[in-house]
Amino acid sequence: MANIVQNQAAWQQAKFDKDFIIASGPDQTHPADDEIVIKVAYVAIAPSEWKIQDLAYIDLEYPHVLGTDAAGIVVLTGSKVTRFKPGDRVIGYCLGLIYGGSKHGAFQNYTTIRERAAVKLPDSIALSRGVVLPMAVFTSTVGLFEHLQLGLPNLTRHDNGETIVIWGASSSVGSIAIQLAHAAGYEVVTTASRHNHGYAKELGAARVFDYADAQVVQKMQQYLRGKQLAGIFDCIGEETTTRACADILSESGGGVLPTVLWPPENLPENVKVVMVWAFRPGTEDDYGASSVWTNFVPAALRTGVLQPKPESYIMTGGLERLQEALDLQKKGVSAKKIVVEIDSFREQ
Ligand SMILES: NC(=O)c1ccc[n+]([C@@H]2O[C@H](COP(=O)([O-])OP(=O)(O)OC[C@H]3O[C@@H](n4cnc5c(N)ncnc54)[C@H](OP(=O)(O)O)[C@@H]3O)[C@@H](O)[C@H]2O)c1
Repeated sequence: MANIVQNQAAWQQAKFDKDFIIASGPDQTHPADDEIVIKVAYVAIAPSEWKIQDLAYIDLEYPHVLGTDAAGIVVLTGSKVTRFKPGDRVIGYCLGLIYGGSKHGAFQNYTTIRERAAVKLPDSIALSRGVVLPMAVFTSTVGLFEHLQLGLPNLTRHDNGETIVIWGASSSVGSIAIQLAHAAGYEVVTTASRHNHGYAKELGAARVFDYADAQVVQKMQQYLRGKQLAGIFDCIGEETTTRACADILSESGGGVLPTVLWPPENLPENVKVVMVWAFRPGTEDDYGASSVWTNFVPAALRTGVLQPKPESYIMTGGLERLQEALDLQKKGVSAKKIVVEIDSFREQ
């Protein structure tokens, strides 16, 4: 088992390069005041990781260590850290694409995470399951509670009589957005392919539409007539999905439409589309809805109000399997999150 001084990392050598080089990693022995260092047990793969390889849409210094979602055990804490101590089981959002560089990438044996971007995982949730959460929670928080200004989720649900549309139930982001919106008291209306309608209902959706149905927009518009619509969140972000969401929102009176990718042009005039940036709760001081992550998520996992979904598809074999995992994510997943076991240490 590698110790912190022998940290190994999966390096992307240059822009557009694939096939990580496994080599000596960044020095992880000196966390800043507000950082923790964890021994990484599992990482979850996000589409952004293979998209960075394909498109280089964020300017990075190369060689670079990618990776956003990590789960593991705290080994070091910065001098001002109050919420963690060595030995804690945690999940965290590694901000290396935007903050701190390779030291903050998940694809290594040890990684550094800002205190605000990590939470303790209840003992009842395996690290291999909890690791699916950080990026999806951050993205959902920004979409739902910043851009749409929804009421915050509660451990005890109170129906508030309002409806929200979450497009893309079986995606990683959609799976969490549905649960958070449901816990906040909204009636959730969503889309999924037919074989995932049961999955969407288990997450808390009241009504599921088949996104492949040529009449899906008209059917959703009809269902929403007379309802109090709190907003629409496009968790897929393709041109077709953003246009579909915009048409539905426009008919309901218009408003803000958060989406997860760069939006197309020429949308209805009464729709103001905004791009979600998941890293904001991790980088901005006093982020408004940060309590969703730091307070609600651990308590909701403990009580079962929040489930780590989609289920993990676990690949063993450590850093060497990461490129294969990214390639698999790119081929497409359906209500699954690809998770790579980085270290074979077993939970007690
Ligand atoms: N801007 C940000 O900060 C940010 C953060 C996170 C993610 N993202 C982006 O958000 C997108 C989603 O990421 P993810 O990890 O959640 O994706 P994912 O888990 O890989 O999404 C896979 C799922 O998408 C569903 N899907 C595909 N096309 C659909 C459509 N037209 N309508 C409804 N559902 C559809 C599939 O559903 P079925 O299996 O049911 O067919 C599949 O289950 C990616 O493009 C990612 O890059 C952006």
